[in-house]
Amino acid sequence: MGEGRGISVGIRVISLDEVDSTNEYAKKIARKVPEGTVVLAKRQTAGRGRKGRRWESPEGGLWMSVILKPQRVDSRLVFVGALAVVDTLSEFGLSPGIKWPNDVWVAGRKIAGILTEGRAGEYTVLGIGLNVNNPIPPELQGDAVSMLELIGTPLPLDRVLERLLFHLNAWYRVFKERPGLMMAKVRERTFILGRTVKIIQDYNVLIGRAVDVLDDGSLLLDIDGQLRRILYGDVSLRLF
Ligand code: ATP
Ligand code: BTN
Repeated sequence: MGEGRGISVGIRVISLDEVDSTNEYAKKIARKVPEGTVVLAKRQTAGRGRKGRRWESPEGGLWMSVILKPQRVDSRLVFVGALAVVDTLSEFGLSPGIKWPNDVWVAGRKIAGILTEGRAGEYTVLGIGLNVNNPIPPELQGDAVSMLELIGTPLPLDRVLERLLFHLNAWYRVFKERPGLMMAKVRERTFILGRTVKIIQDYNVLIGRAVDVLDDGSLLLDIDGQLRRILYGDVSLRLF
């Protein structure tokens, strides 16, 4: 299923008014629905980021999860989501960049986050949260931003969704057929390269210069002249 060349993302869209988390909902139905099924919600009551961190999801944003059934589990699927968001935002006149490993930023603030979860050999749920017209809570102002705030006028959510689905299809296909090409684009769009970053992994902290994103999705860090590969996983990255 889904290995043909045809379009599959958005083949079926389940639209909900309210849900705890579209990722949770998608995981529950994943085995029973075709690849490409999308779960969309107007609001999430318990939207999540990584490590169970809260994702603010009031009405007005795009909160969705895509059920994918790739041949093998691949952490690089997060980049299918990131690149699709980047291309969508670019079409709306913005200049986004990928903050490795799972965020999209515009003008120094986070506009979208991607959360992939799954069961090996069965499915991957690609969760995307994109701030469109939703308000940004006061405690996140300065760190987070919406399309509305940047563009100055509300955007039709269905139009943003349509463009995002289009780009998800395109990048999922590139991922399956030419993953190296996808990673070249990730490298090009990752704005942290060349900058000093802090990597936090549990209680370990590494500080170095981000040099490259390698073809397996890991980040190459230069720590005082020594190169070190940081695997994609539950690592946090902070900019200086
Ligand atoms: P880290 O680099 O530490 O992983 P992160 O930003 O990637 O940071 P995640 O757990 O991936 O952290 O994402 C959740 C975080 O995103 C929350 O802790 C909060 O700071 C922020 N956040 C929550 N809701 C929103 C939103 N709607 N828009 C932008 N940022 C948000
Ligand atoms: C992050 O930045 O850590 C990722 C945030 C991912 C948020 C999206 S919104 C749709 C989907 N459902 C969730 O509960 N999380 C993802």
